[in-house]
Amino acid sequence: MSVSGQVRAVTPPQVVAAKGGTPLVCLTAYTTPMARLVDAHCDIALVGDSVGMVLHGLPSTLGVTLEMMIMHGKAVRRGLERALMVVDMPFGSYEEGPDQAFRNAARVMAETGCAAVKLEGGETMAETIRFLTGRGIPVMAHVGLTPQAVNTFGGYTVQGRGEAGDRVLRDAKAVAEAGAFSVVLEKVPESLAGRITKEVAVPTIGIGASAACDGQVLVTDDMLGMFTDFRPKFVKRYAELGNEAASAIEAYAAEVRARVFPAAEHVFGDTPKAALKGDTQ
Ligand code: KIV
Repeated sequence: MSVSGQVRAVTPPQVVAAKGGTPLVCLTAYTTPMARLVDAHCDIALVGDSVGMVLHGLPSTLGVTLEMMIMHGKAVRRGLERALMVVDMPFGSYEEGPDQAFRNAARVMAETGCAAVKLEGGETMAETIRFLTGRGIPVMAHVGLTPQAVNTFGGYTVQGRGEAGDRVLRDAKAVAEAGAFSVVLEKVPESLAGRITKEVAVPTIGIGASAACDGQVLVTDDMLGMFTDFRPKFVKRYAELGNEAASAIEAYAAEVRARVFPAAEHVFGDTPKAALKGDTQ
């Protein structure tokens, strides 16, 4: 908190400075209420393109559009004060080259108010990352398992085992040298995550990449047990909100059918009574 009473948001240079210190904490958010919850405890709020699978029921992230990311980004912006807001660039919005990437990333920043974008890819994206970061667009990179390349990989498989580790290391180095302020490392072996974290100058943020990283990210709906279509090994469930929601909906349906709900305390009489917070009587 500054002396003026205004909360100062975390900045990309502060993330870079956190390398090797207390681990950075990042979670996804797609809505204003979730952004508020994440903001209270996290350094970075990621509007991930996982939103397509988690909230929109898509089979992969490939169908996510720029418009979807902007709509969710605007909602998240309204819920954040302190966390650094990063918005994922969706599939097809940046891969053509630096000009396309700049045009779309600038639109995302202008319309959502985010402070940075994330894009997937290693060496092949280095030129684009250099172009963006040189023109005022901070970039979080994403290497290892990059879900937008699921068809190329043939599934959501662990990346960088054995000799393939050298390629992921080269990717991480290339994006860091191109100016990325952090690198998400997804689904790589612990030994490789440790090697990359040692050899790359900016923080590594792991998802399925062990505690060897400089920070961690999870999809919030996964760790809360709200997204239950599948559960990757790297997800720890800190709550089972999906089960709780299912029980609550079951109870509501039963009470409505039994005429138990609404009860007397939920019903308006002819004369006003003491108002509940936010309610009108
Ligand atoms: O889309 C997303 O939520 C992500 C994180 C899982 C890193 O890219």
